[in-house]
Amino acid sequence: MAGRIPQTFIDDLLARVNIIDVLDGRVQKLKRAGKNYSGLCPFHKEKTPSFSANQEKQFYYCFGCGAGGNALGFLMDYENISFPEAVEELAKTAGMEVPRDDSPQQREKDQQLKKLYELLEAASQYYEEQLRRNDNRTDAVNYLKSRGLSGQAAKAFSIGFAPSGWDNLLKHLGEGDPHKAKLLEEAGMLIHNEDRDSRYDRFRNRIMFPIRDQRGRTIAFGGRVLGDDKPKYLNSPETPTFHKSRELYGLYEARKHNSKLDRLIIVEGYMDVVGLAQYGIHYAVATLGTATTAQHLERLFKIVPEIIFCFDGDNAGREAAMRALKTAMPVIEDGKEARFLFLPDGEDPDSLVRQEGEIAFSERLGKAQPLSEFFFKSYSESADLDSMDGRARFSTEVLPAINAMRPSLLQQMMLDRICELTHLSLEQIQTTVNFHEAIAAPAPAQNTAPTTAAEPFDAPPAEYDYYPSDNNEYADFGSAQQEPYYEAQPQQGYKQGKQGKYKGGFKNGKFGDKPRPNLPSPKNTELSFAEKLISLLLHYPQLAGEHRFPDGLALAEDRDILLLIQLINYYKENPAATLGQLAVDWREDEKLSQTIIKLYEISTSLEIHSEADARLYLKDSQHGLELKALELEISSLQKKHQLDREEKLALANKFQQLHQLKNISKD
Ligand code: UTP
Ligand code: MN
Repeated sequence: MAGRIPQTFIDDLLARVNIIDVLDGRVQKLKRAGKNYSGLCPFHKEKTPSFSANQEKQFYYCFGCGAGGNALGFLMDYENISFPEAVEELAKTAGMEVPRDDSPQQREKDQQLKKLYELLEAASQYYEEQLRRNDNRTDAVNYLKSRGLSGQAAKAFSIGFAPSGWDNLLKHLGEGDPHKAKLLEEAGMLIHNEDRDSRYDRFRNRIMFPIRDQRGRTIAFGGRVLGDDKPKYLNSPETPTFHKSRELYGLYEARKHNSKLDRLIIVEGYMDVVGLAQYGIHYAVATLGTATTAQHLERLFKIVPEIIFCFDGDNAGREAAMRALKTAMPVIEDGKEARFLFLPDGEDPDSLVRQEGEIAFSERLGKAQPLSEFFFKSYSESADLDSMDGRARFSTEVLPAINAMRPSLLQQMMLDRICELTHLSLEQIQTTVNFHEAIAAPAPAQNTAPTTAAEPFDAPPAEYDYYPSDNNEYADFGSAQQEPYYEAQPQQGYKQGKQGKYKGGFKNGKFGDKPRPNLPSPKNTELSFAEKLISLLLHYPQLAGEHRFPDGLALAEDRDILLLIQLINYYKENPAATLGQLAVDWREDEKLSQTIIKLYEISTSLEIHSEADARLYLKDSQHGLELKALELEISSLQKKHQLDREEKLALANKFQQLHQLKNISKD
């Protein structure tokens, strides 16, 4: 069966066969129901049909477990065969012959792969044999006995023994055949000593666990020392037959035991899989010394609707669980479930099931935490949900993860739960979700943030930090430096015009209502004036271009004002930008993005409920803004050592304007 199958043939084949014929006899109770056919899904257990197939589209889908695809995919999953095999099978029913890419290179590749599988199978048999017959097998047998492993379990997993010595396998399989030795090396069974150009057995004096692919072919090995030596386990390297991030130990054996599994447990080790099986839990699989990957999960969810992760109760276990959680969330879809089980400290599934037996262990499995429960427990544990700041931080942390999920009921439920925990509306949450999605989006190469390069404020100061710990400079809107040029009149205050609805926007000739406390935070409604304007513009970006903000503001050194200017410039250049777009453009600066989110969220404290409100607010603010701009302009002129004639005139002019403005405010 050599050679690559041309795509044209596959297309042709699919056009000729009818998926319904393929399903017939394989799907129970297959019946026509209108345009579609329905039946009992063969990929999960069910009593009422949720499997449906469409003849016109040549497609099947199960509403229960989410399995779906064309005739070839169905055959692969149903018969547990590879793609070329499914093509062969289907071609047979259609009376077609499969043409092959018979290029010599392709044929050689296929030949080579076939030989690797054969050698690995032979190696597996050899190791099994050694456990039974090798003269020095006593230690191995005793070790396995000491671990309570039954002969039956050992047999089910073809556990074997690699005797001590450097060339047992080499001699047995490759003696006198340099080509075979090379193949064995390629299969991961021999190690090549480059200096001496010699090869020796990778696995020596170890208990051998053959790793099989879904079809039962041996593709690699894990080998355990008999005692406490290091490394405890040795695994085959990546080879043409073995891809760690895809394979799972025990999956073949689990499916062999029960072809209609409804759940699988993911455990950490070889011995856990074997131990559980020995005690009647035949549905455990283990990753191979790596963390669980999305590929692993995709593969498992094709087989079962439920996966239970099993972790040690210690810190390492918790960390592994967090990793698994992050991997699992984007994979989950409706009809699929992931749960988390933590074992008592110091136990692993193997030790525990030996102590308490199948029933007690199954009970634990029954009580495993649903993903959402584990998610919220782990994230809210460290969060301070009593403060607005804590809630904002919490949302910021959890939203990207929830956002990475596929649209599903679970995702919706988790969003609802965040609303509950944060007291934010779904709308606010959604905006934030979009926002985060935008931030997380990979950077398009040429589009760098921010887009206001021509402006003096094209980037926030490097040390930009929304929550600096010693932020005396935040004590007021204006910096201390600028104070002398402007006389504050604390007692007198500035009275808003009659239409002024938003008192406090501008007071005492200063921006910001009160000196800012040490750690300004969103729970604090005492935002600086600039922050309020930022929040307003985030909701009504069109006002940025429409409203005339005084140019002098651009001279500010205050971070809030700088941000305000940056935002105004951004919206002027990108009038149609959504919050998400903004986030994309500014994604490079995470703190900046977070500040923006927070300022967007706290908008409720502004009591601005419509664009009309926003305009009014801006109008009321204009006087304060102009005053501030003047102040900045004067300050900047005064800072100069020497002023030319024009500048002196300008300064005088500004003083006069300032005087006038202040007088207006006293009226
Ligand atoms: P553990 O150290 O938890 O071992 O490794 P275990 O499975 O409980 O093994 P026993 O009970 O002591 O025999 C868990 C898994 O991590 C990988 C193996 O896949 C192992 O089963 N591992 C561990 C390695 O790949 N290399 C090592 O050196 C150790
Ligand atoms: Mn163990």
